[in-house]
Amino acid sequence: MQYEDLIIEVQDSVAVIRLNRPKALNALNENMMNELGAALLAFDADDKIGCIVLTGSEKAFAAGADIAAMANYTYPDTYTQGYISRNWEHILRVRKPVIGAVAGYALGGGCELAMMCDFLIAADSAKFGQPEIKVGVTPGAGGTQRLPRAIGKAKAMDLLLTARTIDALEAERIGLVSRVVPADKLMEEALAAAKTIAAMPTSVAMMIKDCVNRAFETTLTDGVAYERRLFQSAFGTPAQKEGMHAFLEKRLPNFDGL
Ligand code: CAA
Repeated sequence: MQYEDLIIEVQDSVAVIRLNRPKALNALNENMMNELGAALLAFDADDKIGCIVLTGSEKAFAAGADIAAMANYTYPDTYTQGYISRNWEHILRVRKPVIGAVAGYALGGGCELAMMCDFLIAADSAKFGQPEIKVGVTPGAGGTQRLPRAIGKAKAMDLLLTARTIDALEAERIGLVSRVVPADKLMEEALAAAKTIAAMPTSVAMMIKDCVNRAFETTLTDGVAYERRLFQSAFGTPAQKEGMHAFLEKRLPNFDGL
């Protein structure tokens, strides 16, 4: 498939999806979100892919939903067309790991899209924020829900109500991102992490992602019970046999195709 607003690259078992509307700082419009959904779901279904990296440009991961497109929307438009939810949440259906590699601005919908990735590696140039209040709307892609879960109520209220942006180091300190790296090392680091994950058994990586996401939807007791079922079911996978026997035989495991 040809993409207008994305650049796609595949390296070994890793797919890299780059948001690409440089003139608008990767503002997320309908076409880009449709394309992103299609690309994510295609790679999720591709047996050769074990991990996906979602990134933007050096200047912007994404500066939010496209304000030029939204400025004259009416309530009936947004409601009947299911604006935001319809084509923004395909990423949540992806069962393989998705790493967000963020440089520059990740604001509004850009920050929300980043938070829908499984974890974030940030360049030291990254800036995160939810400035929707300044353009007269609430966040619309989960910012009021995922931000407090990620960084706690006090920090989330601060960012959401004052519209201030935070830099990469603050984002790391409060747990929004997992690592900060020099900007010129961002893709190297993200690809290395993605290749490490892709070399693990994909079936088990998918189970772990499923379990962690379950933690945000259920009680501790039910979450632990869910994890235990998947742990037990892992014993039905070739990955468990290969991983444990390789350890006992003092050799590296070969998880190819597992
Ligand atoms: N939508 C549409 N266009 C955008 C955009 C956005 N969210 N963000 C930036 N652009 C465009 C600018 O209009 C500008 O275009 P022109 O050159 O044609 O004028 C171009 O990108 C470059 O932007 P700036 O000149 O503003 O660049 P800057 O370096 O001076 O500032 C910035 C960068 C601080 C990110 C600033 O562009 C900005 O504040 N952008 C808007 C951020 C924002 O409010 N995001 C939330 C949007 S609402 C939302 O996302 C809803 C939701 O929850 C889903």
